[in-house]
Amino acid sequence: MEISENNRPTSLEEALAQANRQLLQSEKLAAIGQIAAGVAHEINNPVGYVQSNIQTLGNYLQDLFRITDAVASAGSVDELKSIRDNIDYDYVRGDLDDLLKESLEGLDRIKKIIASLKDFSHAEEEAFKPADLHRGIETTLNVVNNELKYKAEVHTDFGDIPSIECIVSQVNQVAMNLLVNAAHAIEQFGRIDIRTGQSGDEVWFEVEDNGAGIDPSNLTHLFEPFYTTKPVGKGTGLGLALSKSIVDKHSGRIEVDSVIGRGTRFRVWLPIQQAGVAPTA
Ligand SMILES: Nc1ncnc2c1ncn2[C@@H]1O[C@H](COP(=O)(O)OP(=O)(O)OP(=O)(O)O)[C@@H](O)[C@H]1O
Ligand SMILES: [Mg+2]
Repeated sequence: MEISENNRPTSLEEALAQANRQLLQSEKLAAIGQIAAGVAHEINNPVGYVQSNIQTLGNYLQDLFRITDAVASAGSVDELKSIRDNIDYDYVRGDLDDLLKESLEGLDRIKKIIASLKDFSHAEEEAFKPADLHRGIETTLNVVNNELKYKAEVHTDFGDIPSIECIVSQVNQVAMNLLVNAAHAIEQFGRIDIRTGQSGDEVWFEVEDNGAGIDPSNLTHLFEPFYTTKPVGKGTGLGLALSKSIVDKHSGRIEVDSVIGRGTRFRVWLPIQQAGVAPTA
């Protein structure tokens, strides 16, 4: 951490807090960098077919204009009919609806991905505010979809929960780390379940996979910074350490349940209201 003269921290505690903030930010940037390629791919696909649909629509319009133009000049209704038969009017009409519908869906998908990225990267946000956890999870799913879809069928089972006081971009980051870990734990193609619920004055969300599972002797190391079983260059071992620091900051906790060869479930508990945390500006 670089400390210049004019922002020298006044205490060790403050220096640590500052280092933690920078670490959070840089891990998030690294994560966003990693998924940017995936997101680009995800957007590229609908852009591709919307573009080709618009080209086809242009051709269809040319055909349809041939009929409307002929209305002014044609000598007889039969002449119009023969133009209409020539362009295979019924097919064009049916396909036009399909092309428009598919294109609108594609554009909608692109809009969702972009909105999710915006939601996801509220980097400046540091204050605890009431937020909809389900929306956060949906946002995160949209962002990591590309990492998940080739590895697992993702199921959501959302309970009836109130909004919770949290720093939503950071909670999204926890969800992202758990989801990406779950996908990495699955060797070929598996299943990931995301559930939410409430118990007393706490809300929980969990991510369960049917992947490799974790050896009981490793469970105690999971949240240590730089603990990773992934090959060099693949994992930094910071995902869970940062997730824990975020959850601690929210006065919550993370539970792990894992059976080797069967799968793993991470459950995050968060208080609905933050007691005694003065909202930071
Ligand atoms: N769902 C899971 N199933 C099996 N093992 C897991 C799971 N989640 C975490 N682990 C184990 O915990 C280790 C630490 O996870 P963590 O997210 O902190 O780091 P990482 O995924 O290795 O690297 P990154 O910094 O890229 O997240 C992983 O390397 C893996 O061994
Ligand atoms: Mg990880």
